[in-house]
Amino acid sequence: MALTMDSRIYVAGHRGLVGAAITRSLQQRGARDLLLRTHGELDLTNQADVREFFDRERPEIVILAAARVGGIHANNTRPALFIRDNLLIQDNVIDAAHRSGVAKLVFLGSSCIYPKLAPQPIKEEYLLTGPLEPTNEWYAIAKIAGLKMCQAYRREFGFNAISLMPTNLYGPGDNFDLQNSHVLPALIRRFHEAKRRGDPELVVWGTGTPRREFLHVDDLADAVLHLLETYDGEPIVNIGWGEDLTIRELAALIAEVTGFEGRVTFDPSKPDGTPRKLLDTTRLSELGWRPKIPLRQGIEQTYAWFKAHAEDARLY
Ligand SMILES: NC(=O)c1ccc[n+]([C@@H]2O[C@H](COP(=O)([O-])OP(=O)(O)OC[C@H]3O[C@@H](n4cnc5c(N)ncnc54)[C@H](OP(=O)(O)O)[C@@H]3O)[C@@H](O)[C@H]2O)c1
Repeated sequence: MALTMDSRIYVAGHRGLVGAAITRSLQQRGARDLLLRTHGELDLTNQADVREFFDRERPEIVILAAARVGGIHANNTRPALFIRDNLLIQDNVIDAAHRSGVAKLVFLGSSCIYPKLAPQPIKEEYLLTGPLEPTNEWYAIAKIAGLKMCQAYRREFGFNAISLMPTNLYGPGDNFDLQNSHVLPALIRRFHEAKRRGDPELVVWGTGTPRREFLHVDDLADAVLHLLETYDGEPIVNIGWGEDLTIRELAALIAEVTGFEGRVTFDPSKPDGTPRKLLDTTRLSELGWRPKIPLRQGIEQTYAWFKAHAEDARLY
């Protein structure tokens, strides 16, 4: 079944960074039948509730953007929560979607599914060729199980589930909590606060040498909808910007955008995580999609959003 603006589309996790961007993009395209439920309205770890929801509402298309997500600290301190919630959410949603006759499902994984020391840039076929980064292996193992579940349901039942692996994302609606957020929003908030206090120095966690790639979440949403419309294969597809930079370069860029004029130093006693993580996006390019929002422009726009929403952004 082709995606049309009359399709009944369930975006799971529509208030999250990714789900909100996909929902915005669908609304901009004129989607008329969006199904949206908050975590409070439907806890996706509850199998009976999820099955009942699918049987009653009968979505035609499902975009699974609900997950237990967090940075190194959150993954390290709550391993049970990360593996449990993610396994349950994806198992319940993928199975209920298949049982209730959903025509197509998009599963969102993450670049952390790949081995810690994978050759760079990371091609899709490097999956399961080496040990994972230990700081987030709980999350990664759950995501690997999710993409394998999509492949297994496609093989056994002909269920049209595709799995997409985004790189690090950022943008409006991100989590700016210092304990649980990813590096880019955490740095935006820290530089913003350091500037406001007039601090002479800002210390960034780690050595500053790891290389990372960042993609604006509006680009991600555009890629997801492009592949929802055009791709029906079993192989997973990376979604990235295609170039990376060091954390030191990222910090300098955010210092400039936020107007922080103090010194930026690094604390090598804090964990660095994977030394480099750049996705190979050849497959995505061959499927006819390219990102559009350059990093500086994306950070400027995200910083403007952060300042405008500092009160209601997820700060604490
Ligand atoms: N952010 C990134 O950099 C990034 C990178 C690669 C891949 N991804 C993938 O993109 C997907 C979404 O990530 P995100 O960054 O948008 O995360 P997010 O901002 O934390 O949003 C996740 C959403 O899922 C909801 N959720 C969590 N547990 C739930 C449950 N038990 N029942 C119902 N809803 C639940 C959350 O609702 P509450 O907040 O109310 O709990 C939230 O709205 C994930 O699969 C992630 O792996 C993200």
